[in-house]
Amino acid sequence: MANGGRIDPWSSDQSTDYARIVDQFGLSAVDPSSLPNPGILHRRGIVFAHRDLDVVVGCMNRSDPFGVLTGLMPSGRMHLGHSMVIDQVRWFQQQGGDITVTVADLEALATRGTSLEEGRKTAINEYVHNYAALGLDPDSTNVYFQSSRPAVQRLAFTLGRRTNLSEFESIYGFHGETNLAHVQAPLVQVGDIIHPQLDDYGGLRPIVVPVGVDQDPHLRLTRDIAQKTNWFNVKQRKDGGLTVALSIQDSNKSQLAVSDSGQVEMDSRMALFSEIEKSVSDLGFSDIKLNPKHGTLEVPAATADDRARIRMAMLAIERKMGGMGLMPPCSTYHRFAVGMTGDKMSSSKPETTIFMDDSVEEMSRKVKRAFSGGQPTVEEHRRVGGDVSRDVAFQYLQFFFEKDDNALEEVKNEYESGRLLAGEVKQICIDRATEWLNDLKEKRIQWEDRLGEFLAEDAI
Ligand code: TRP
Repeated sequence: MANGGRIDPWSSDQSTDYARIVDQFGLSAVDPSSLPNPGILHRRGIVFAHRDLDVVVGCMNRSDPFGVLTGLMPSGRMHLGHSMVIDQVRWFQQQGGDITVTVADLEALATRGTSLEEGRKTAINEYVHNYAALGLDPDSTNVYFQSSRPAVQRLAFTLGRRTNLSEFESIYGFHGETNLAHVQAPLVQVGDIIHPQLDDYGGLRPIVVPVGVDQDPHLRLTRDIAQKTNWFNVKQRKDGGLTVALSIQDSNKSQLAVSDSGQVEMDSRMALFSEIEKSVSDLGFSDIKLNPKHGTLEVPAATADDRARIRMAMLAIERKMGGMGLMPPCSTYHRFAVGMTGDKMSSSKPETTIFMDDSVEEMSRKVKRAFSGGQPTVEEHRRVGGDVSRDVAFQYLQFFFEKDDNALEEVKNEYESGRLLAGEVKQICIDRATEWLNDLKEKRIQWEDRLGEFLAEDAI
């Protein structure tokens, strides 16, 4: 490893831990050069992993619609840790995505005892207000409450049929004593994530869910469940190309031309296959091999990149035939910034983070006390240099406050060479954070009376 074995915060595979997470969770690493307009988050390796991000990037490149879903727990105060997902959301919005924001008021009620009224106030005054100040555009943002969107709750029930307690045990570590609130909440979250693709909420299009990596179990569960409902699977063929295969289930047998006794009804199967063939050839493929009896259709010339488009076409057919036609969600994962004390950031430990409405004095005090990567003595520091991978002030510049890559690079070089002392890096952090907090405060005042613009119709 470069840098004398130290972690390099500039590279996206800097940390063995994050590389291990990618491996263990079966994620893909983010390659900033594959994105149309990589943002700071990508260039700095903060967004480090994804599932199916290429599907969304395909939409960006073709100017096809895609949606973004994010959720917030309406409790406590909003701090820097929460702002990371909004930085991600804002980037997707700039690339053309429409934004749906879940207020997890039912989850907060069930798991924390937060009343719905209290949750509503916190969501709007604390979170939506800061989202506005952070630059989300209300024209394509819709904030809704779990408690007032029956479609979400309906999905939680419908899709609950596709999972069971054993799966919950293995994903979430539940056991006999687990409170049922913790069983309900993930199912409602599945509903949150799936529902933007329903016809009433924007219709069939890829949905990406930017999250911290702690939320990945929910995404795995949702992707699993969505896939189980699909009537058509689109798989890679061993010898290149893609195969569309029917997924016959009790609930779709008759539509997929299988009789009660299990026989294929050839006439209606043929009719179905010519419809599939037509929609695949409309996408520009001419070589299509049908095997209606078997329930498969081969598209030898299709590449992995074509998979999402073919899949969408199949989901559209499924919907026309009465199925749900659900696309598994895509997702992106950001790293967590270290807490200021070296612990995890947490609302319940105010010293570990900076809140969106902290005063400049509070912020300065926290930065001054924060964990540093400087050497014990000035002489040693000048000789050895600072360690940016352990320095909270540097990391906060990198994650939050210094938007200029060159300026950040310069701080890094000066610090590592020993020319800048830890206290000086802290002062730079305080200066940038002061601008950031003041700007946010000003923007909050500008948005104060306009928060209604962010709320969906059923949230007013
Ligand atoms: N469970 C999330 C949390 O603890 C909140 C949440 C609910 C959420 N629904 C969501 C997050 C959908 C992302 C997507 O913060």
